[in-house]
Amino acid sequence: MNLKKFERYPLTFGPTAIEKLPRLSKAIDAGVEFYAKRDDCNSGLAMGGNKLRKLEYIVPDAIASGADTLVSIGGVQSNHTRMVAATAAKIGMECVVIQESWVPHDDAVYDRVGNILMTRLMGADCRLVDEGFDIGIRESWETALQSVRDKGGVPYAIPAGASVHKYGGLGYVGFAEEVRAQEAELGFKFDYIVVCCVTGSTQAGMIVGFAADDRADKVIGIDGSGTPVQLRQQMRDIVDNTAELVELGRAVRDDEIVINPDYAYPAYGVPSHETNEAIRLAARTEAMITDPVYEGKSMQGMIDLAKKGFFPEGSKVLYAHLGGAPALNGYSYTYRNG
Ligand SMILES: Cc1ncc(COP(=O)(O)O)c(C=O)c1O
Repeated sequence: MNLKKFERYPLTFGPTAIEKLPRLSKAIDAGVEFYAKRDDCNSGLAMGGNKLRKLEYIVPDAIASGADTLVSIGGVQSNHTRMVAATAAKIGMECVVIQESWVPHDDAVYDRVGNILMTRLMGADCRLVDEGFDIGIRESWETALQSVRDKGGVPYAIPAGASVHKYGGLGYVGFAEEVRAQEAELGFKFDYIVVCCVTGSTQAGMIVGFAADDRADKVIGIDGSGTPVQLRQQMRDIVDNTAELVELGRAVRDDEIVINPDYAYPAYGVPSHETNEAIRLAARTEAMITDPVYEGKSMQGMIDLAKKGFFPEGSKVLYAHLGGAPALNGYSYTYRNG
């Protein structure tokens, strides 16, 4: 496997910390040890998160293309558009982001706080569009690209979640390499990695990265999209493309792509009672803040799977914390009593 041949523009501090979660492990009491890899604390750029690992491999291509404006898309409380706006500010480009109504959520300040507030602060042109959830390529995004061209600018297109981009999967191949190096220092290997998946390239990159030492099927994706069939197809394509790019040297089998659809209910961006309980438990045992759209659902999934005995006794389970806490501000009513 060869990731080194790709140019990387550093946007993060470097390898992210792995933290033991003893109080959460004890509270669940399932004979399993939980750890977290803190990609939520990976950078000084606007509170960081998983998209920066992906963008590190995309930025060199954007600069080489001669572009002057990054154009991307997400929901109103998108972490991804915040990270694209941060990247544009850092590298000195303009930024246009389409923010669609992906979440049926009515908090009064939903479109004023958290992610979108920071995105605006960093100077991005945020365009709110009344379209529902879809992880694919959208017309509103094509329109935004054209609007940059019409003004004489040169846009660079970054799709939702930086996923369906030729280099979208590379960043999380790097995550797997980083985990392997950290395991060598720790003196043990993780038995499972739990990760939230929505647009697919985070897990796809991990799958390719961990396929190199034959444990891609130990990456347990917890769907947050509520559209797992479309997600699986999109992830399959990203896995294949990324495996070819890094010369994995073999095809990834379907059974190595593990997506659990059980925790995305009732809808993308809408937390269930159980999701909220998982968010509270992680906060109260470890002061680890997770959000109702992504990490709260994977936290719920990890806890529930442990309680059901999915992880054999003695397993060490690594929770990939991908960021997302700023969105909590848009759910002030939900958590008004904690
Ligand atoms: C905080 C957070 N967690 C998880 C995900 C899911 O990652 P991906 O879209 O690569 O599947 C995202 C982005 O969609 C995110 O912002």
